[in-house]
Amino acid sequence: MTATASTATTARTPARVRLRPTMQSDLDFVLSLEQDESNLPFITPWERTQHEAAIRFPDFRHFIIEGGAGLDAAGFVILIGCRSPHQSIELKRMVVHDKGQGYGRAALRVAKKVAFDDLGAHRFWLDVKERNSRAQTLYAHEGFVLEGRLRDAVRTSDGHDSLIVMSMLAAEFAQRRAQGQEMFS
Ligand SMILES: CC(C)(COP(=O)(O)OP(=O)(O)OC[C@H]1O[C@@H](n2cnc3c(N)ncnc32)[C@H](O)[C@@H]1OP(=O)(O)O)[C@@H](O)C(=O)NCCC(=O)NCCS
Repeated sequence: MTATASTATTARTPARVRLRPTMQSDLDFVLSLEQDESNLPFITPWERTQHEAAIRFPDFRHFIIEGGAGLDAAGFVILIGCRSPHQSIELKRMVVHDKGQGYGRAALRVAKKVAFDDLGAHRFWLDVKERNSRAQTLYAHEGFVLEGRLRDAVRTSDGHDSLIVMSMLAAEFAQRRAQGQEMFS
């Protein structure tokens, strides 16, 4: 499965990305992104075996984000709950290498399309550390609704942080699409 999207904002050149299934040979790239000090404060890195399992298990979708003129590897996305009988799919993780260039927004739009159109999600949800204002802003601008706050749910290097839970329902996605807020190429 390969899905693509381009996004345009008033502030920047449109970013074009596509998602393709992650392969074993991509895992060095994935692990190095997770260990990058610009990402570590916002994620809980996995062992290689966890990524290997996520590539294999039908309940997971593990994607490489390809972007830029050469469609080089620009990041990765992991979805969980893809076979959920509740049709509740989690955006488990999204990390991009070159931040602030629109790849995150474009990849999120593809991930929404995959979750709702391809995997039949009724609810697409995520949690994000409270200190991660960049990701929270992105999710809010992309239509995710605040559900609540799990107080001090995760350990950090300097104490604890809370998790902000956000979600989008299929009807909300359909409404955004009808209003032209979900631009897919
Ligand atoms: C979060 C992340 C995926 C976003 O991807 P990105 O490519 O950097 O984001 P984009 O360039 O698409 O920006 C999308 C929006 O985020 C917001 N944003 C970007 N940088 C920001 C910052 N420094 N502070 C607050 N909001 C910011 C803006 O609203 C921006 O859109 P706008 O410029 O039109 O207003 C990426 O920064 C990342 O990999 N971060 C580290 C890992 C992480 O936090 N992952 C998410 C939790 S699992």
